[in-house]
Amino acid sequence: MRVGRYIAITVGASALLVSGVAPAAAGTLPTSGTAAGAASQAGHDQKQVPLRKVAPKGFAIGVAVAGGGHHLDQEYPDPFKYDEEYRGVLAKHFNSVTPENHLKWDFVHPERNKYRFGPADAIVRFAQQNGQKVRGHTLLWHSQNPDWLTKGKFSRKELRNILKEHITKVVGRYRGKIDQWDVANEIFDDNGKLRTKENIWLKTFGPSIIADAFRWAHQADPKAKLFFNDYGAEGINKRSDAYLKLMKKLRKQGVPVHGFGVQGHLSLNYPFPSDMAKNLKRFSDAGFEVAVTEVDVRIPLNGGDASEGHLKKQADYYRRALEACLSVKRCNSFTLWGPTDKYSWVPVFFPDEGEATIFNDDFSPKPAYFALQETLAKARRR
Ligand code: G3I
Repeated sequence: MRVGRYIAITVGASALLVSGVAPAAAGTLPTSGTAAGAASQAGHDQKQVPLRKVAPKGFAIGVAVAGGGHHLDQEYPDPFKYDEEYRGVLAKHFNSVTPENHLKWDFVHPERNKYRFGPADAIVRFAQQNGQKVRGHTLLWHSQNPDWLTKGKFSRKELRNILKEHITKVVGRYRGKIDQWDVANEIFDDNGKLRTKENIWLKTFGPSIIADAFRWAHQADPKAKLFFNDYGAEGINKRSDAYLKLMKKLRKQGVPVHGFGVQGHLSLNYPFPSDMAKNLKRFSDAGFEVAVTEVDVRIPLNGGDASEGHLKKQADYYRRALEACLSVKRCNSFTLWGPTDKYSWVPVFFPDEGEATIFNDDFSPKPAYFALQETLAKARRR
């Protein structure tokens, strides 16, 4: 666990409404010795400026709002409810939020006839209070589905109605409040084949259910932009090829498909996908919106702490991913999968890796933070 040294820098009165956050937390930004040192070595201005303030006009710099409990040794309660410093960081730096877990089936629809909207409502309310957009995640996925759905005995007709009702109800509730929906998440495997075994919807209905899902979502909120979203699709490969092909085909059939989200879960164990800009551009050139939806960069730790070298390399990955998006005409949204290591999903899922976000556990910024700040500011000046 890494904790930075605090040096308080006041960045002027913030016009942001940070609900539930003391003014001191909202107006004072901590910076770590590590990050500041790395920043100065690279000739950076050490002053931290909120990311949303340096972002180009109209560009969404987003963040996932944690479901909480991602560290096994952590108490379960959702930090969004009680961690004021965390809420302050969400409001100060980001102009878009994505509920990390609270709109997934198992959370929002825990029983056949019961929906649990409270936590997602709270996130949407927070976004409205703080002038933030919202990305909705997700409606048709093979994972995080409740047992009543996956183990229940339903006829095809019943199952189709269950999906239609879910989409209509969930998208309809946030009509006009959620800007982009990840309608279909992770439907292709590494080989660009549809996940017909794991995905209950594809297994039961085949690919035709995808068009239905997009149509139902469009009916429920005609203004929302509807996306496909996947990991391992940052570069040009079988998976991203499959999406481009499918999206063109659906559009020809008049299905309301608007955009493609590449998640951006990167790791220093693998090279940066250097054809990311080229990949995003081909979707943009085809007339689709593009979003980078879930960025984090895992560091191989093997029980230790990240080195200066790791942090520098991590900053480089963040910078390159953001540059790839900013270089593409229809890429207008770049979302981090959580702001701080304190609540990151990574250590639970990848025990040997971690420190994947831009803020340390104590919310002090890492070199990756400054890489994003600089890259956004540069694009704004262009
Ligand atoms: O809600 C239960 C809680 O009741 C229980 O006490 C607790 C104990 O294990 O688990 C809680 O649910 C966990 C949930 O996160 C909320 O914290 C799940 O076990 C856990 O599996 C779930 O992990 C999420 C994961 O998706 C599930 O696949 C991560 O937080 C979330 O960051 C991650 O996000 C995904 C995107 O949706 C899609 N792209 C990949 C990305 C990373 O895997």
